Amino acid sequence: MTKTIIPYLYIIASVLFIFGLKMLGSAKTARRGNLVSAVGMLLAIVAALMTSGLSYRWILVGAIIGSIIGGVAARMVKMTSMPEMVGLFNGFGGAASLLVGWAEYQKGIGTMDSFGFQSVAIYLTVLIGGVTFSGSMIAYGKLSEKITGKPIMFKGQQVINSAILLALLIAGIIFTTNPTGHYLAFIVIVALSVVLGVLSVIPIGGADMPVVIALLNSYSGLAACAAGFVIQNNVLIVSGSLVGASGIILTQIMCKAMNRSLANVLFSGFGSATSASAAGGGYQGEANPISAEDTYYILEAANSVVFVPGYGMAVAQAQHVVRELAELLEENGAEVSFAIHPVAGRMPGHMNVLLAEANVPYEQLTVPDDVNPTMEMVDVAIVIGANDVVNPAARDDEQSPLYGMPVINVDKARTCIVLKRSLNPGFAGVDNPLFFKDNTRMLFGDAKATISALVGEFKE
Ligand code: TAP
Repeated sequence: MTKTIIPYLYIIASVLFIFGLKMLGSAKTARRGNLVSAVGMLLAIVAALMTSGLSYRWILVGAIIGSIIGGVAARMVKMTSMPEMVGLFNGFGGAASLLVGWAEYQKGIGTMDSFGFQSVAIYLTVLIGGVTFSGSMIAYGKLSEKITGKPIMFKGQQVINSAILLALLIAGIIFTTNPTGHYLAFIVIVALSVVLGVLSVIPIGGADMPVVIALLNSYSGLAACAAGFVIQNNVLIVSGSLVGASGIILTQIMCKAMNRSLANVLFSGFGSATSASAAGGGYQGEANPISAEDTYYILEAANSVVFVPGYGMAVAQAQHVVRELAELLEENGAEVSFAIHPVAGRMPGHMNVLLAEANVPYEQLTVPDDVNPTMEMVDVAIVIGANDVVNPAARDDEQSPLYGMPVINVDKARTCIVLKRSLNPGFAGVDNPLFFKDNTRMLFGDAKATISALVGEFKE
């Protein structure tokens, strides 16, 4: 009886995953999408536990330890540290697939055919799982600044990577031709895949880590999918494919948002001393500081205001006071919108999440393609802790490392007010000529304190 129910539960779970994923595509339905996917996962787990011959004792121990670690980590993580946590969890997904592949190999020694489906699936699971695990650990280290965010490059790096790939191919052929007799080849595959993950991610700069995390997320899906073939579990194959496909789509979207190809992200060493040519143009000029009081007078007279949030808004946790200021501006008769750059902040959708948390109406959010053509008619563009995503050098300066990345053209607004604490560069470490433009005013200070002061001025 239970044997008949399991496939049906897997089908329902797969359908829920697909609908959940679809709902995650819009901020309005994302919360429900998450819940729908979670129900799908619950069904998949229940169905998996109904499989006969399981040792529940160890499953229970694993589930308890995993739930405690996951629950505590999710509660404690700061919103700004979310990308590195995603990176870490991707890595664990890769490691889990690697271990499933290894365990199945160990179990099947002596019974596997040469070039059989099982041995090829195990090879792919271990290979992709190993690369995902170590690559994600490096991405985690770079994003959390536990290791340098600068690209680590050395002479002959590409040659070494190619040699490792070749060695992995040869070891794979040796292993799959006779899995039982070639334990050593298997160990070589495990070791080299882990080394390949490290070597592929270290030459990529910290600024490109979000793209790498999305790509590794896709790999973790592929590893899970391969593991699904190893243990012949349909729901693992379906969910792994969904993660693999959505991860690669997100990677593409992010590359497009930066006007870079994936190959450029992976191999150009963006952000290294050679590629960044001294991290920007060393723009000269005098920045014009402004006080909160004077900013208030400008805002008070404005008919249209565009807020452009960035990573600094997340650091300052200024989203609630920003919403308050937006409401006051609207009450004052101004047309208010929020321009969100796809890579503003430190993770996809970072700004959308913060603004949704602060109850900013979804209708007020716009994207660069919609806001840029109208920017010249905007009275005031307020940049809240954004830097790279509003850097006009990305548009105008061919020498800039950011050149070609689409940005929000705040410099074209009648007045641009930049809220940040100093003239320091942003994540990419590239100088920003926006700060020295005639129509730019620098409102220095912590974004939350500054916006609160503006709110205070309006309320007085
Ligand atoms: P950034 O270019 O990183 O600039 C953020 C600015 O916020 C900094 O220049 C900093 O200047 C300011 N800041 C920090 N704390 C602040 C505070 N408490 N109050 C006011 N300002 C504060 O941010 P962005 O424009 O959002 O660009 C995102 C960058 O991160 C891009 O390079 C992108 O490629 C990269 N990235 C994106 C993601 C995703 S998917 N969104 C993930 C990882 C990395 P001060 O120090 O002078 O205050």
